[in-house]
Amino acid sequence: FREPCMQLMDKYGMSACECYYDSYAIYKGKKKLEGLPATYANTDDEVTSLEVYCKDPHNGLEITLQYSVFEKLDVITRSVKVKNGGADPIELRRLLSACVELDSKDYDMITLYGTWARERHVQRNPLHFGKQLVDSCRGATSHAHNNFIAIVDHKATEDYGDCYGFALCYSGSFVAGCEVNQYEKTRVFSGINPYDFSWHLDLGEEFQAPEVIMVFSASGIGTMSRTFHDVMRNNLTRGKWKDIRRPILINNWEATYFNFDTDKLLDIARESAKAGIEMLVMDDGWFGHRNDDKSSLGDWFVNEDKIKGGLKHLVDEVNKLGLKFGIWFEPEMISPDSELYKAHPDWCIHVPGREKSIARHQYVLDFSRKDVRDYIFNEMYKVLSVNKVDYLKWDFNRNLSEIGSAALPPERQKEVAHRFVLGTYEVMDRLTKAFPDMLLENCSGGGGRFDPGMLYYSPQIWTSDNTDPLERLSIQFGTSMCYPASTMGAHVSASKRAGYDTKANVALWGTFGYELDPNRFTEEESELIKAQVAEYHKYYDVIHYGELYRLISPFENEFRAAWMFVSQDKDEALVTSVVIKRPEDRGFTLRLKGLDPAKYYVDEDDGEIYSGALLMNAGICLDFNGEWDGDSFKKHFKAVK
Ligand code: GLA
Repeated sequence: FREPCMQLMDKYGMSACECYYDSYAIYKGKKKLEGLPATYANTDDEVTSLEVYCKDPHNGLEITLQYSVFEKLDVITRSVKVKNGGADPIELRRLLSACVELDSKDYDMITLYGTWARERHVQRNPLHFGKQLVDSCRGATSHAHNNFIAIVDHKATEDYGDCYGFALCYSGSFVAGCEVNQYEKTRVFSGINPYDFSWHLDLGEEFQAPEVIMVFSASGIGTMSRTFHDVMRNNLTRGKWKDIRRPILINNWEATYFNFDTDKLLDIARESAKAGIEMLVMDDGWFGHRNDDKSSLGDWFVNEDKIKGGLKHLVDEVNKLGLKFGIWFEPEMISPDSELYKAHPDWCIHVPGREKSIARHQYVLDFSRKDVRDYIFNEMYKVLSVNKVDYLKWDFNRNLSEIGSAALPPERQKEVAHRFVLGTYEVMDRLTKAFPDMLLENCSGGGGRFDPGMLYYSPQIWTSDNTDPLERLSIQFGTSMCYPASTMGAHVSASKRAGYDTKANVALWGTFGYELDPNRFTEEESELIKAQVAEYHKYYDVIHYGELYRLISPFENEFRAAWMFVSQDKDEALVTSVVIKRPEDRGFTLRLKGLDPAKYYVDEDDGEIYSGALLMNAGICLDFNGEWDGDSFKKHFKAVK
């Protein structure tokens, strides 16, 4: 009678299923999920897994419920696999990844909603009778709703109350929500969106659902977030760049948009090098004949009218300046005005014979097809194997519509959206294996595909196209509900509100970089950038490996936001506060969190020493006159040895 996790249709058109327990296995460690991103154990001692095997004797369906317990964190992951072990094909109409029963209805649901340039704002509502959910049917996670939800006590705060968090390791259409029934019980669910989904299981075939990462905290939303941060940093992101310092990059997008050439890029690189910036990223517009967003996606060959002397020349010159080099691709897309479209008009996602909706003047390539994926991978390989590319920004600027594939039979058309996601994962996997030293950053019109699935392939994701530091506060606070600072692409730009100090204070809460033309700096600004670069290095460890405490949320306070990072050993803390709107009061007291009450900390600004207990219970009094919109400060404390 309630929202089910599995639905199928057998050869008689019936959806009945009797799923009986058969056996189980418990083992140390955790198996990989075939073709899908998932958390992993660094050592077998870290995780214990349980598999429960069930069978339906009527149709031969074999169901494996997969659980893994991360014992040191309050984390359980859950997934499910079904196999058609019977004699007839079966249509799998839904297979959600998790279903959790809570014994009451007295909870709030927290979700992250938004739109382009306003991603992941926090929404919190009390549960009501009936179903309440967020979802996407766009073939991607979307700007509109993230695939993380939390069910928390009505009174839960950052520091108090029971919280259950659910983050789906998936980047396609999803559903996440809960149902409160007439007995006041809550069922929480999360998984692939059953809307327009079906999977044809021939004899012996299997279907693996994605994994849900489930976190419990008995001490508030802050602990829940920090647990997600730990599991994502340690057990989800991978590769060389997981644990080493990411380069400070400068991206030319907001500086030039499509209007650049080799000279312009080298001008940017030259000035950047002087400031200590470590990598130049050449964004959209270097390929085909692309001078605006109307053409050339799919034509991944260098436009030598702009990149005069060729790509190798540009990369060599950038390297000579001491900078690494990064490049932009949008691999899953095709422009109607492209060589590729002329050669293969049926390679895009479409319903044959019907109108195709265009968005940002482009179609989506049919990544459910191996031939399409192989072609794109090979084109990318050609560029990346002959040039020394240290970083790749993988963009995705529109969602899927009229979902169909010219290469699949009718009974498999409802598989296309999921096959597309699997195809994207496959190409990302090949790419990261072929170029293990290259840093991959995901992006989707800003933060439209910021999800745990993508973090398995790229340790950082561009958080939003909105680089205004005051608006970024809400975006970053919301994103931090689930995702650690080390994954959040954050840049200082030439945006109008607030000065460069505040822009940097906000961007430091992320991977940190620049998105502007340094040739337009005044001398004073150039000096400031040098100081910011030094700060990035100084605070890197406490931000990237430390614990985040949200002190004042912009969703609860219209005047100020404040947050802090504390190192794991509690020997170091970095506190930042930003004035959003000039407050009436003068000066305020900010109580810190997460410190060791018994330790003494020195305030680096003035050498004053305070106990951790004092900083947390009495707080620091910030009595500065003239707090104006966009002002900010940061304070650095170190434990006295
Ligand atoms: C998206 C990205 C931007 C930029 C443009 C290029 O909007 O989010 O950062 O790369 O595409 O077209």
